[in-house]
Amino acid sequence: MMRISINQVREMKQNGEKITMLTSYDYATAKIVDEVGIPLILVGDSLGMVVLGYESTIPVTMEDMLHHTKAVVRATKNALVVGDMPFMTYQVSVEDALRNAGRFIQEAGCQAVKLEGGVTVAEKVRRIVQCGIPVMGHIGLTPQSINQLGGYRIQGRSPEAASRLLQDALALEDAGAFSIVLETVPAPLATLISQRLTIPTIGIGAGAGCDGQVQVINDILGSFTDFVPKHARQYAKLTDVIRKAVSDYFSEVKSGAFPTDKQSFTMDESVLAELKAK
Ligand code: KIV
Repeated sequence: MMRISINQVREMKQNGEKITMLTSYDYATAKIVDEVGIPLILVGDSLGMVVLGYESTIPVTMEDMLHHTKAVVRATKNALVVGDMPFMTYQVSVEDALRNAGRFIQEAGCQAVKLEGGVTVAEKVRRIVQCGIPVMGHIGLTPQSINQLGGYRIQGRSPEAASRLLQDALALEDAGAFSIVLETVPAPLATLISQRLTIPTIGIGAGAGCDGQVQVINDILGSFTDFVPKHARQYAKLTDVIRKAVSDYFSEVKSGAFPTDKQSFTMDESVLAELKAK
């Protein structure tokens, strides 16, 4: 079976079929996500926070992203894998943006890249797309600009900010983006933007009117609890499961209950006897 293509993603919007995207950062998890049939997997720079323990996504490097994207690509057969371009790998120049987008496709083997920003990055998006690399846009709350935004807060509430977001979305569509993430945007504004665009919108904290939804996998699994965003629903509480398994292992090693014969290996008695006789 071939991987999902960007044309199929666009067709999902045309057919009114909701699009699901989920992040993954490692082989074992991505394999499950792919087997379930999630069509879009984002190797998000959110890995800086949920995998590497940074306070923001800003310290994440190209090498971090390539390393994790390669693992996700190796694990998957069907999903379209999107690599997230980290801070300062596309902002400085069109050449930088192109070279780094190319590394995602050529070295990591993913099928598309994502970058943050609207009107200000539109020319970079256009060049990357012209060179044959599909681009997903990302507007609204753009975590790489957290210092400029002044915190993880809802975007596009004032008339000026709402109008800017619509202009950003239209600029990305015009530049050739195949879809756009709308993050932490009022639901009615996200609905209006989704209706104005021919390409799909993928919302996170942007309400049900988007063409699809994306979540950070650790948020839906309950495996990262430093903070739980309002937009996330926990479908499991993995931290509780992991804590119990680790403490059971800890006490069983101490008590001698682990390992048993079942987890051990035997050998020929005569070899042992010979050794003892020496
Ligand atoms: O890095 C990420 O995981 C993202 C999603 C939240 C859209 O950008």
